[in-house]
Amino acid sequence: MLRLGVNVDHVATVRQARKAKYPSPVEAAIICEQTGAWGITAHLREDRRHMVDADMVLLKQKISRLNMEMAVTDEMLKIACSLKPHSSCLVPEKRQELTTEGGLDVAGNLNRITEAVNTLHQAGIIVSLFIDPDKHQVEAARASGAEYIEMHTGRFADTAGTEQRRELDRLIKAAELANSIGLNVNAGHGIDYVNIQGILEIPYLKELNIGHSIVARAVMVGIGQAVKEMLDLMKPYNK
Ligand code: PXP
Repeated sequence: MLRLGVNVDHVATVRQARKAKYPSPVEAAIICEQTGAWGITAHLREDRRHMVDADMVLLKQKISRLNMEMAVTDEMLKIACSLKPHSSCLVPEKRQELTTEGGLDVAGNLNRITEAVNTLHQAGIIVSLFIDPDKHQVEAARASGAEYIEMHTGRFADTAGTEQRRELDRLIKAAELANSIGLNVNAGHGIDYVNIQGILEIPYLKELNIGHSIVARAVMVGIGQAVKEMLDLMKPYNK
């Protein structure tokens, strides 16, 4: 069965915009899980722009399967080994980026990444590597000892027409290769309620990690109810 991992980072983005107490990404994660999400993904960034350390601790306590997205740094490895999430997804991270841009260069940093994979395995954490759908990166991911790859679907999501078809074919080929050499295959980034149709053509997928489109949709399907609740609270004034 194709599993859904919901990335709740952007619930925290709304909270951090006001440095307020709500909305709580942990509360959102609990609802996602209760509604059928297989897992919850949260990216603890170096700059803590959305999720903060305390969120990760609470998520780990309240959620069955926490996937900690993280950069390959000593600080994050230390936090992961003490937090012990169900899995870690290693991603590249640049301070100025709006979101994760491009996959991890596993082929170019094989020693460092293999070391990180070993460290996480020793703490009992399943490891996934976020990579572009590229033969060399898939093979390097296998060599690193990681159990999973997460294929970066951002370019597929950002293109259209024949270019998008070409990207989808790359994803299909990379998934076939990964499966043939014993890697489990996830996918994520930019997947929305329209382009999901193309994503479903990719074989051997275990899990999709989706954040922005779900949080954005939640605002739209929830704002009517939110207004209604506030209007109800204002009613006594009008009596
Ligand atoms: N997977 C990874 C590795 C990511 O970095 C992100 C973005 O944080 C996602 C999935 C979710 O992407 P989106 O928010 O575009 O659905």
